[in-house]
Amino acid sequence: MKYSIGVDLGGTNIAVGIVDENYQIVKKGSVPTLAQRGPEPIIHDMAELCKKLLAECGVAIADVAGAGIASPGTVNPDTGIVEYANNIKFTDFPLVALFSKEMGIPEEKIRIGNDANLAALGEAVAGAAKGSKSSVMITLGTGVGGGVILDGTVLTGCAYGGAELGHMVIEKDGRQCSCGRKGCLEAYCSATALVKLTKEKFEVSPDSLMREMCENDINRVGGKTAFAAMKKGDKAGAEVVETYLSYLACGVANLINIFQPEVFTIGGGVSGEGDNLIIPLKAKVAKETYSKDNTLKSDLRIAKLGNDAGIIGAAAFATK
Ligand code: BGC
Repeated sequence: MKYSIGVDLGGTNIAVGIVDENYQIVKKGSVPTLAQRGPEPIIHDMAELCKKLLAECGVAIADVAGAGIASPGTVNPDTGIVEYANNIKFTDFPLVALFSKEMGIPEEKIRIGNDANLAALGEAVAGAAKGSKSSVMITLGTGVGGGVILDGTVLTGCAYGGAELGHMVIEKDGRQCSCGRKGCLEAYCSATALVKLTKEKFEVSPDSLMREMCENDINRVGGKTAFAAMKKGDKAGAEVVETYLSYLACGVANLINIFQPEVFTIGGGVSGEGDNLIIPLKAKVAKETYSKDNTLKSDLRIAKLGNDAGIIGAAAFATK
């Protein structure tokens, strides 16, 4: 059995997995990114974690089949550089060179890609889109990421800056996005945006159950607050969810109308809402997709691999 390393480098945590040839994670762990400290210490901690996990699995560094690293932003696998990331402020980050030096793994064995692109690949090889010829994924987390997989290939654009599905404008001159534009899907449908929407409702809803749930402290409002309140019958919570899902449906319908993939997966933290998200979303999307008989042709699914999608996709990308 051959083993590879899959790393999901996020703004908050660095998650690492040792992945076998069947895309099973045999060992995993994570450490905080502490993104503001700059490249060297981040890569050092990442490498230390990889070495520790490899040792625990009894795999020698020289025997590693490949190492894949998923990072937000425009990630160039030809140069090994993370050129730009709007949400964790990486600019020209020499990821592969540093990681190769720290690990003693040759650069040729290391491949980097955009986090959501690789999460989509992970879902395509081992998750909710397994067996499909075409799939699209969006990840609803700190930002909104996107990945398009066609016949097993990750669609990246001519300079690896494509498939930024979260930066599709769904409201002209709408809410400010961290990318600089206004009205992006990310500004309405990331977990960050959901918290913002919920806080706005919280402020004007003195009788909402959300108040009780958060002990009247707006700082305790999180990404799950509105959904949890809605489940308990709270009107304000339900209104937040309705607004959120309407924006999400607009974005998903746009993407289905462009790609009509066999499978469309929704991942990231907010996808943990499961049926409470996907059932009403399907109903809304069905009304907005372009198709003669108005039925939803693409199969809309919650992603299956959770936080492991990036790790598995990164490992798959490095060894393909
Ligand atoms: C970034 C993407 C990234 C996504 C998820 C977005 O803000 O622009 O590159 O994939 O967040 O991390």
